[in-house]
Amino acid sequence: MKIISIVGARPQFIKLAPFARAIQDHNDSNHEPKIVHLTIHTGQHYSYEMNKIFYEELGIPEPDCNLEVGSGSHGWQTGEMIKRGEEVLVKEEPNWVFVYGDTNSTLAGALTATKLHLPVAHIEAGLRSYNKEMPEEINRVLTDHSSDILFCPTENAVINLRKEGFTNIINKGKLINQNFINSNLSNINFHESPGVINVGDIMYDALLLNLEIAKKKSFVLEKLKLKPKEYYLVTIHRAENTDDKDRLKNIMEALADLSKEKPVVFPIHPRTKKTLEALRISAFNFNQVHLIDPVSYFDMLILEKNSLKILTDSGGVQKEAYFLGVPCITLRNETEWVETVKGSWNVIVGADKKRIIESTMNISPKPDYNSRELYGDGETAKKIINLLIKIHIKK
Ligand code: UD1
Ligand code: UDP
Repeated sequence: MKIISIVGARPQFIKLAPFARAIQDHNDSNHEPKIVHLTIHTGQHYSYEMNKIFYEELGIPEPDCNLEVGSGSHGWQTGEMIKRGEEVLVKEEPNWVFVYGDTNSTLAGALTATKLHLPVAHIEAGLRSYNKEMPEEINRVLTDHSSDILFCPTENAVINLRKEGFTNIINKGKLINQNFINSNLSNINFHESPGVINVGDIMYDALLLNLEIAKKKSFVLEKLKLKPKEYYLVTIHRAENTDDKDRLKNIMEALADLSKEKPVVFPIHPRTKKTLEALRISAFNFNQVHLIDPVSYFDMLILEKNSLKILTDSGGVQKEAYFLGVPCITLRNETEWVETVKGSWNVIVGADKKRIIESTMNISPKPDYNSRELYGDGETAKKIINLLIKIHIKK
């Protein structure tokens, strides 16, 4: 069986790592069929600290092909990925094309494959913010509706897809739909009626696989002279915050105020760096702040785990805060990771300076409400491979 994974942006490398490892484990076992796993890198992220650092640290196999698309407008970037990716998919004729998350690389991968009538599998399907201003929301919806198998990270994601008309839900190895229950998944034509399954969150796999290693290999706290639970960690990169100078200015002013109380550690995404340079960062009155380049995944896990509180607009970071039991203040108007909000582990505050400061000071999660199991058991990648073997499409 031949699988092609299409990735291109930082969080996708992190999602790819456990998947590639599960395939390796499968191939090392006696189970058939063996899987040939090729990866296409679209080139969306290319700076060392947004790209190669993850391949090196997480031992992800080098891309078999890099489309080297780079940065550009949404239409141009997505179009170039489709144009350049098509040639590779035509040549390779995979049994499955895997796409991850909600970036332009995700949508481009799904569209390229589906137009070639190649089966598409979407990891992290079914998430919705119901905010069409977000480029990611468009990418998610279109990718889901181009996919043959939708691997959901949570039960809420399955519910979202049901609302959009997906009725073939796979549960406990069986397909359940309105008309029949069919235990033989290999007889189903997923291209005609896509299958939806909750397999858990692959980012939880990544965290569980790497946290103990990170504890041994990361010296980021020592490097930045930080004491555990005595600093705030911040990441910002969402278009709604970086393309709107007023929002970013409000957030930066809130951070400057918070830095009077505790150090603020802020690994800056290149997109945010550009806007901050335009806003002249020195204009903000920071007391104790570490404005640093984006960090490696190991360093990030250690920074997250030891932070007092996390302020972020990242999807992945909101979840990691939840997995690690660190209170999170989300600098957005909504979240697709709705489970994290129950029990006040995550509060949604937007970009209002006063709300950011007050929520950071007052957030008080209820310990009993942290239900990590809502995100699976850390065996997501293995579950995906097992299901794929069951429904193996022979070329
Ligand atoms: C992209 C995804 C977003 C995801 C994020 C993860 C889309 C629409 N957005 O946002 O969903 O959460 O990745 O980090 O797909 N740049 C560099 N070096 C790089 C990459 C980008 O300097 O390696 C700069 C370029 O100036 C570029 C800007 O960052 O124009 C934005 O990059 P882009 O890939 O378009 O979007 P992200 O904001 O990274
Ligand atoms: N991350 C990292 N270094 C950083 C910032 C984030 O390794 O400097 C990791 C983070 O731990 C998480 C993922 O990148 O696993 C989240 O990616 P990002 O915030 O770029 O995108 P999103 O999840 O919002 O799509």
